[in-house]
Amino acid sequence: MGLLDISIILVLLLFHHVVIANSSYSSQKQYPSCPDEEKSALLQFKDSFIIDKSASSDGYPKVSSWKPAEGENSTCCSWKGVECDEKTGRVIGLDLGSSCLHGSINTNNSLFHLVHLQRLNLSDNNFNYSQIPTSIRNFPSLTHLDLSFSVFSGQVPSEVSLLSKLTYLDLSGNVDSLSEDEYLPLLKLEASDLGSLVQNLTSLEVLSLSFVNISLAIPHSMANLSSLKTLALVECHVFGEFPVRIFQLPNLEILTVRYNQDLTGYFPEFNRSSPLMLLKVSFTSFFGNVPSSIGNLDSLQKLDVAQCNFSEGLVPSSLGNLRKLTYLDISANKFGGAIPDSFSNLTQLVTFRISTSRLTGPIPSWLGNFSKLEYLDFNYNRLNGSVPASFSNLTNLQILYLASNSLSGVVEFQMFQNLKFLSQLRLSWNSLEFVTESRIVNSTVQQFTILALSSCNISEFPSFLQYQKGLTRFDIAANKIRGQVPKWMWNTSIETLVYLDMSQNFISDQLPPVLPWVNMVCFKFSSNMFHGSLPIAPPTMLEYTGTDNNFTGEISPLLCSMKNLQLLDLSKNKLSGMLPQCLGNFSDDLILLLLGNNSFHGVIPQTYNNGNSLRMIDVSHNKLQGQLPRSLVNCVGLEYLVLSNNQFNDVFPIWLGTLRGLKLLAMRHNGFYGVIGKSRMNVDFPKLRILDLSYNNFTGAVPSVFPDIIINKSAYMYTDVVYDVGGITIDTRGDYALTIATKGLEQYYPKIREEFASFDISSNKFEGMIPEFIGNLKELLSLNLSHNILTGSIPSSFGNLMKLESLDLSQNKLSGRIPQQLVQLNFLSTFNVSHNYLTGPIPQGTQLTSMNVTSYEGNSGLCGDPLPKKCGNPPKPPPSTVDEGDSSSEGIFEFDWKIVLAGCGSGLVVGVVLADVVITKRPDLFLKIVGMIRQMITKI
Ligand SMILES: *[C@@H]1O[C@H](CO)[C@@H](O)[C@H](O)[C@H]1NC(C)=O
Ligand SMILES: *[C@@H]1O[C@H](CO)[C@@H](O)[C@H](O)[C@H]1NC(C)=O
Ligand SMILES: *[C@@H]1O[C@H](CO)[C@@H](O)[C@H](O)[C@H]1NC(C)=O
Ligand SMILES: *[C@@H]1O[C@H](CO)[C@@H](O)[C@H](O)[C@H]1NC(C)=O
Ligand SMILES: *[C@@H]1O[C@H](CO)[C@@H](O)[C@H](O)[C@H]1NC(C)=O
Ligand SMILES: *[C@@H]1O[C@H](CO)[C@@H](O)[C@H](O)[C@H]1NC(C)=O
Repeated sequence: MGLLDISIILVLLLFHHVVIANSSYSSQKQYPSCPDEEKSALLQFKDSFIIDKSASSDGYPKVSSWKPAEGENSTCCSWKGVECDEKTGRVIGLDLGSSCLHGSINTNNSLFHLVHLQRLNLSDNNFNYSQIPTSIRNFPSLTHLDLSFSVFSGQVPSEVSLLSKLTYLDLSGNVDSLSEDEYLPLLKLEASDLGSLVQNLTSLEVLSLSFVNISLAIPHSMANLSSLKTLALVECHVFGEFPVRIFQLPNLEILTVRYNQDLTGYFPEFNRSSPLMLLKVSFTSFFGNVPSSIGNLDSLQKLDVAQCNFSEGLVPSSLGNLRKLTYLDISANKFGGAIPDSFSNLTQLVTFRISTSRLTGPIPSWLGNFSKLEYLDFNYNRLNGSVPASFSNLTNLQILYLASNSLSGVVEFQMFQNLKFLSQLRLSWNSLEFVTESRIVNSTVQQFTILALSSCNISEFPSFLQYQKGLTRFDIAANKIRGQVPKWMWNTSIETLVYLDMSQNFISDQLPPVLPWVNMVCFKFSSNMFHGSLPIAPPTMLEYTGTDNNFTGEISPLLCSMKNLQLLDLSKNKLSGMLPQCLGNFSDDLILLLLGNNSFHGVIPQTYNNGNSLRMIDVSHNKLQGQLPRSLVNCVGLEYLVLSNNQFNDVFPIWLGTLRGLKLLAMRHNGFYGVIGKSRMNVDFPKLRILDLSYNNFTGAVPSVFPDIIINKSAYMYTDVVYDVGGITIDTRGDYALTIATKGLEQYYPKIREEFASFDISSNKFEGMIPEFIGNLKELLSLNLSHNILTGSIPSSFGNLMKLESLDLSQNKLSGRIPQQLVQLNFLSTFNVSHNYLTGPIPQGTQLTSMNVTSYEGNSGLCGDPLPKKCGNPPKPPPSTVDEGDSSSEGIFEFDWKIVLAGCGSGLVVGVVLADVVITKRPDLFLKIVGMIRQMITKI
């Protein structure tokens, strides 16, 4: 965020400069002579700084012309940036904005000898984290004070509120910029000081405190500043309710309070007398309706209410009255319906955004008349119909975003040929067909920075790409590209491309040994038919995902040069050999390490650094051997550990119990063995809810490592990742989900519910009684103890497992009766107690009797429905023919993890939620991982 705001502020700055410049003297003017002490004060001031071009955004060192020379220029009044009183010669104005000054300034600076100053502009320099000097009080005549964007820090001194003549106060933009869109405010304003500022500076016309850390409610007295024309409080961390009377200030033209998430407030009724020209409240918690009287704001040119809490409903059609609008952004408020016809009069629009909303209907063709349009964004809506042909008339268009709608029809690239400035085009995820005609003159095609053409029915890489020199992002996923990648593609935008997604095609090619894009951040090539070896990628990478291809050979240790990688997914390939040891600790930012479904052998990487970020490790379905490295305990954030279907040979890793976030531990089909010790006072595995130990050689008693499941239903698992590179912010949201494959049926769950819990220790050599604690695991959905040597009876406490959908106790040595309490398990759809020594009647009249006979067979002492054997009195009619359909009751669940990566950027959300619908309809199904959803919001 922030770039737009900064540009607004810079515009204000420029405006201010113009005002000052107009009031200064032209060079022909006969200059008054300035007093010697003021001249020497200025020279001293000059000498206290160095000239540093990088201190200003676009600066010119005005002070270079300040010389102690005699003659024509002996008077300081002729110096650049200096303004003197015409009669007295005293310095009354100093405009040193963008003057490349670098250095500290303190209270003793000779500047503060210029006690007649009325206007002081030091904006856009670098004062090296100086405090605003308290000697500012020496300027009682000051009307203009501009210290914006100049690296001042600390508390704003209360002395500022002594400057009661101020009409212009700008302290904005004193920030450390952490990245393109993240700022750390350097200035702070205390409650009392904001109060006195507002109380004392009653002449203020311009007040800009953007990016000053205020962290207070805006005082109601601010509405008393009756001269106020501009109020800018962007990202000030102000909160509470915005004083609605401020809207009624009779002179207020510019109001921006963007990026104050905890600021609430509502719009009043607006009337025609309001001079508001700019109104921006985006990224706040403003709520209520956008009143139709907003159409009365005849002067309004810029309106931004994006990402607030305005009530859902139709797009307010009264906005169509605002004929002067050049900027309109109402994105992400869930406004729906068609784009109102009244908007056809908004022909002055330069920026028009309604993204992430519920727009329906077609895109009106009259938009083609908006000849000034530069930025049109309808991403993430439900628009249908075609892309209007009239768009070919939008000759000033630079950005066109129509991705993720329901648009259809053919888009001929030709239609954009006259849009010489078009540099960002996003059409992904519609039902469009994007065609490039061969007669297109490749070299005259405009230069794009962003091209998003995923799911556009494309069958080859468009040839004009080879002339693109500045692409930063290119999406061509989910198309129909077959065969090889054209050779020139490896030469396209080598310096600039940071994001390339060509997953979900049918490309059968080898990738070059080293990726040509030297600044690549996100390279996605999953679900193709790539073969050969994996390419080495530059150290800038954050995401490298090549799952579901045909790659062979070993993983080169050179991949470990991706020191900032967050996501590595190489699962579902034919990779082999030993895993390079560096994979455990090459990047402290790595969140996902997915290597499953390959043919790796040997041990897994042994070293995991303290402070690593791993949340999920999946090495399942390989031929990995040996013991688990004890340094896995350093993965303190680990949530999922999937070791299934390998040849590990170790005792149970009870020491992993210290991982406080571990939710899933899957170890099935390995050579784990031995008795599982007791957990240490129930402190182990506090979050575990899915445990799969099946098909190992464990012995001894059923382990009690599974805690009481305490579920915080509102807490979903997620991880945020911020990618922000090369001038574009890429936003990724990915939910993980577990998918379950039961016999012959693969089910794809987009999300998995947090409370999903299961316990599977089947096919081991566990012996003894079934411990009572299992009856307390009330959140269990699935329990499988089958194929062990368990004895004793089925605990009646199983009747407490009210959420249980699948229960398998088959192939043990259980005896006694089936507890009557099991009839309470209303959700049970899979039940198997076959091949035990159970006796007595099957509890009748419930879902237990609706089970297949196979659920009970092999217990010679059992009787009653559905078994043919009757229990004596009272006699029952014989059951109707039992359909021996195929039974999924053996519970052979294949863990099959897959992460689908559809984005790369700020906010990779790893969440897990299971769709309720599916669970109730198919309660017999179980787990498996899928992945999904990411959103990409590129901000400018
Ligand atoms: C005097 O100052 C003006 C403006 O800074 C400059 O153009 C001119 O060359 C100077 N004259 C002398 C003699 O330094
Ligand atoms: C307000 O201004 C007056 C006159 O300049 C001054 O005496 C007073 O201390 C100021 N009040 C505050 C709260 O700064
Ligand atoms: C556009 O403005 C004209 C002139 O005021 C008006 O007559 C017309 O109804 C407006 N169009 C729409 C669709 O509101
Ligand atoms: C482009 O504008 C011209 C002039 O207004 C108009 O004649 C033409 O039909 C428009 N083109 C499209 C495709 O709408
Ligand atoms: C554009 O480039 C492609 C691929 O090199 C070529 O086949 C096509 O003829 C070129 N078109 C023109 C008009 O030069
Ligand atoms: C992978 O390679 C094998 C031969 O090694 C081939 O039979 C198979 O079709 C390939 N699969 C894909 C998806 O390309």
